[in-house]
Amino acid sequence: MVVCSFLLLFAPAISAGDYPPTVRGLSYSFYRRSCPQVEIIVRNFLRQAIRNDAGLAAGLIRLHFHDCFGCDASVLLKRTATEASELDAPPNETIRPSALTAVTKLRTLLNNACGAVVSCADILALAARDAVHLAGGPDYDVPLGRRDGVTIAAREHVVAAFPPPSSNVTALLNAVTKIGLDVTDLVALSGAHTLGISRCISFDDRLFPTQDSSMDSRFASNLKLSCPAKNTTNTTVIDVRTPNMFDNKYYVDLVNHQGLLTSDQVLFSDDRTRGIVARFAVDQSAFFRSFAFSMVKMAQIQVLTGVQGEIRVNCFVPNAGSGS
Ligand code: HEM
Ligand SMILES: *[C@@H]1O[C@H](CO)[C@@H](O)[C@H](O)[C@H]1NC(C)=O
Ligand SMILES: *[C@@H]1O[C@H](CO)[C@@H](O)[C@H](O)[C@H]1NC(C)=O
Ligand SMILES: *[C@@H]1O[C@H](CO)[C@@H](O)[C@H](O)[C@H]1NC(C)=O
Ligand SMILES: *[C@@H]1O[C@H](CO)[C@@H](O)[C@H](O)[C@H]1NC(C)=O
Repeated sequence: MVVCSFLLLFAPAISAGDYPPTVRGLSYSFYRRSCPQVEIIVRNFLRQAIRNDAGLAAGLIRLHFHDCFGCDASVLLKRTATEASELDAPPNETIRPSALTAVTKLRTLLNNACGAVVSCADILALAARDAVHLAGGPDYDVPLGRRDGVTIAAREHVVAAFPPPSSNVTALLNAVTKIGLDVTDLVALSGAHTLGISRCISFDDRLFPTQDSSMDSRFASNLKLSCPAKNTTNTTVIDVRTPNMFDNKYYVDLVNHQGLLTSDQVLFSDDRTRGIVARFAVDQSAFFRSFAFSMVKMAQIQVLTGVQGEIRVNCFVPNAGSGS
């Protein structure tokens, strides 16, 4: 028994056949010569940091997602931990300051170890990968070699492309298919909502003035303790069962009509997605495999490679002379 559980613990969660194709210019051994310690440095730092602040895992995963309608670290430009807390951010662009602080610390650790050879976009991809695993989710490899964008110009379009939390499945599918993701990717990646928090304003239209009839009534009553009226400034956990654990309970929530956002709960009411939700709710391994696959796919959307862009020395500003 002991041997058995030992083996299970160290068996690779994801096998080689489960990975999507690698985009030209990226590779699983990109820093083998220039910064062989990169993955160890990132993981060791985050192991401690997430132990001290479980919410950091959610922050890092969301930051990578928001970067990845073109994973070039442009999400970081003109944004620092201090600024972020002051930003009058729309519901589609709230980022935890602690995640930005972690990026700053990782940038410094990697600059000291290897010089500025690891891109900020790769730091975001690795940090999200490690956050998933350190919070209890699957461990998977992520191809590296992304370059950092030098301009924030494209960012507005990216932000406008994010579907609002009030979206139905048609709107969600429209948004994700535009960037090459499919219906399984949508359901699997939404499973990241197994971690983290949401502000009341992202879902309080489901409570006031009239309660969404698809919502479990006891769940709704409890939510009103956190969000007693429309437009309050409180927050609440997204996955009511295990908010700090990366597991498949998010899908169990949906099956029980206890999904927080409209964009979560509709995945169980729409014929195109219900079956996938039901499967992930009873099969955590299937969710973990799909999630890892879709994350690697998402992490390769419209990346810069080769001599495109640059390696930002400071993740929050383009290098001098790069002309943003
Ligand atoms: C499919 C459409 C999606 C919508 C409409 C959506 C919407 C939201 C909203 C409204 C919040 C709460 C923000 C707030 O009120 O402050 C949130 C939080 C979060 N989202 Fe999503 N999201 C989507 C997909 C994703 C994906 C693909 C990922 C990652 C793979 C992700 C990861 C997260 C995480 C981890 C949080 C919690 C953040 C924290 O606690 O700091 N979301 N999302
Ligand atoms: C996201 O925020 C931007 C900037 O405020 C806004 O223009 C856009 O309409 C928002 N998109 C959605 C889908 O809410
Ligand atoms: C889904 O949302 C879109 C965009 O908001 C809307 O035009 C459409 O009518 C909705 N579809 C259904 C079936 O509710
Ligand atoms: C915020 O939510 C918590 C529970 O999540 C609740 O105890 C607290 O009373 C709420 N605060 C306000 C101002 O509604
Ligand atoms: C909540 O805020 C929105 C946006 O600021 C506003 O349009 C709406 O009237 C407010 N609703 C209530 C009930 O205060």
